[in-house]
Parts: sequence; structure tokens; C-alpha cells
Amino acid sequence: MLGPVILAASRSDRMRRLISAAPVTKQVVDRFIPGETVDDILPVVKELTGKGLEMTLDVVGEDITTPGQAAAARDAYLELIDRLEPLELGTRAEMSVKLSMFGQALPGGHDLALANVRPVVEAAAEIGTTVTLDAEDHTTLDSMFAIHEELRKDFPQTGCVIQSYLYRTEQDARRLAANGSRVRLVKGAYKEPAEVAYQQKHEIDKAYVRILRTLMEGEGYPMIGSHDPRLITIAQELARRAGRKPGEYEFQMLYGIRSDEHLRLAAEGHRMRVYTAYGTDWYGYFMRRLAEKPANLRFFVRSMVSK
Ligand code: FDA
Repeated sequence: MLGPVILAASRSDRMRRLISAAPVTKQVVDRFIPGETVDDILPVVKELTGKGLEMTLDVVGEDITTPGQAAAARDAYLELIDRLEPLELGTRAEMSVKLSMFGQALPGGHDLALANVRPVVEAAAEIGTTVTLDAEDHTTLDSMFAIHEELRKDFPQTGCVIQSYLYRTEQDARRLAANGSRVRLVKGAYKEPAEVAYQQKHEIDKAYVRILRTLMEGEGYPMIGSHDPRLITIAQELARRAGRKPGEYEFQMLYGIRSDEHLRLAAEGHRMRVYTAYGTDWYGYFMRRLAEKPANLRFFVRSMVSK
């Protein structure tokens, strides 16, 4: 019940100002977003990759309002890639990007986002790594898939995300599985209406399994973006049935969520990638993490009250 309310608040400027200014917010935010700058995040990259984990790095930010902000987002990723180069991690540290941060919602936004994201994908390729395009709300997806297709002409390793809560996704998965894409499957984190998305958890989970089967049986590289223990077990069984070995698919989880499970899967020989967000514009990302689990909200409220 609380989830939709928190997701609505994630789009409210007033709530953004209130919550961002609260003095204790930072302690709670740190659990999910371990830093604001490249200097903060590089030690985290070294620590996690040193433990045998892989990473996908997200400079937080979305829904920007000027082309200048979109260019700044591009430059933030270029700086990150520059600083990753000497670590020689290759695909063990890749990038995740939200096209809204690259200007997708501005006038002429499709072309602007493509123009801003291309240099990031090029720079990533130069240091031997890849970029994955995150999935945002359903109105942005046709543009995201078109940009993905365009980038793959020169950089076939560019990945994208699909969301099992959307009715359209089974069809998207069939197309992407046939053309050999790297695809991260997630349940979906936005507030979507019943016209386009399943609303019940059991329906979203069942769709997740159907879509994952399509990806596992296809030509691409499936990336299982979930913390759900049942789906992790099912994914391993679907991989086995499709004749895929560990390394021919990977697990992905968010920084700060089920961290023991990250290490357990890696120790079992799986590729385990930790999605790690950093930066100053953390509000939207943080609120979606609160919405996913009411216990996070209780923890947040308790820390505010106990101050
Ligand atoms: P579910 O929500 O059922 O959670 C299963 C269990 O995981 C819970 O019982 C709990 O133990 C734990 N858990 C899950 N979320 C938690 C939280 N916030 N705090 C604490 N514990 C939690 N979405 C999207 O729309 N576009 C995208 O591009 C991405 N990208 C992405 C990348 C990666 C690597 C992951 C793992 C997830 C995303 N998501 C996303 C978010 C995704 O859509 C979804 O909202 C969350 O992963 C939660 O769903 P689960 O599959 O984990 O299952």
C-alpha cells in the first residue's frame, strides 16, 4: 500500500526539498548510495571487485530540465570512465545510464539523448567495457529501445533493461533475445497504470519467469536483475535447461541490498554484478528503494524521530 504513495512522492519537488534537507537523511541514503563523487566511489569499486564481484556504476540523476544539465551528466560519466581506465577492470566495471539524465525528455530529446550517450558508450568501449541503458517509465521506452538499436550498430555489447511488470515486455524480450542483445530483466520500479502494467506481485513474478525463459533460450546474454530468492533459484534452473553455464548469464543486485547473497553467488562461481549508484542527485533513486520495501521506510522514519 505504501509503495505507490512513496513513488508519487519521488516525483514531488516539495518532498524532494523536504527530504533532501533533513539532517539524518544522509545516514540512511549512504546504505544505498555510497558516495557523491568519483573520489568516493573508486575505493568502493576496488573493494567490491577485490572480493570477486563485478559492478555497474550509475551516476544518479534524472528528469533534468536544460541541455546544459544533460551535457554535465555526459561529462560526469566521461570523468568516471577516465578514472576507471588505470584500474584495468574491463567489463568487471561497466556503466548504467538513464537517458532522462541525458536530455531525453527535453524538446528534441531523443536526438539529444543519443548525441550525449554516444560519447559515453565510445569511451567505455575504449577501456574495454560496456554501457547498459536503464529502463525508466513506460512513456520513455520506445525512444530507449530505438537508441539501444542505434548504438548497437557500432557497439553491439550495449545493453538495455526490460521490466516484467509491463505487458509489452514479453514481445520486447522475444525481439531482443533473437538479435543477441545483453538484456537485464527487472520487475520494474516506477508507478505504472493498469492499462500498461500488471499491478499484482504474483502476476509480475510469473511474467518475470516467462520472460526469463525467453531470454535464456535466446541468442543474447541474460542479466538477472533481482534480489528475489525464488527467482534466483528459478533462473539457475532455466539456465541449466537452456544449456547455459555460469558466465553465459549473470546475476545483478543493487548495492546495499542482500549483500551476503552477492558474495554467496560469486563464491559459487556465478558472475555477480552490483549496481552501485553515486552522486548528489540521489532523491529519485533513494525513494524507489524505499518504495520497494516498507521496512526501509520504517528505518528511515525511526532515524528521523530518534534524532
Ligand atoms: P522484490 O521487490 O520482490 O524483493 C525481493 C526481496 O529482495 C525482498 O523480499 C527483500 O528481501 C529484498 N529487497 C528488494 N528490494 C529491496 C529494497 N529496496 N531494500 C531492501 N531489500 C529489498 N527498475 C527499473 O524500473 N529500471 C531499471 O533500469 C532497473 N535497474 C535495476 C538494476 C538492478 C541490478 C536491480 C537489482 C534492480 C533494478 N531495478 C530497475 C529495480 C527493480 O525493478 C525492482 O524494483 C527491485 O529490484 C526490487 O525487485 P526484486 O526483483 O528485488 O524483488
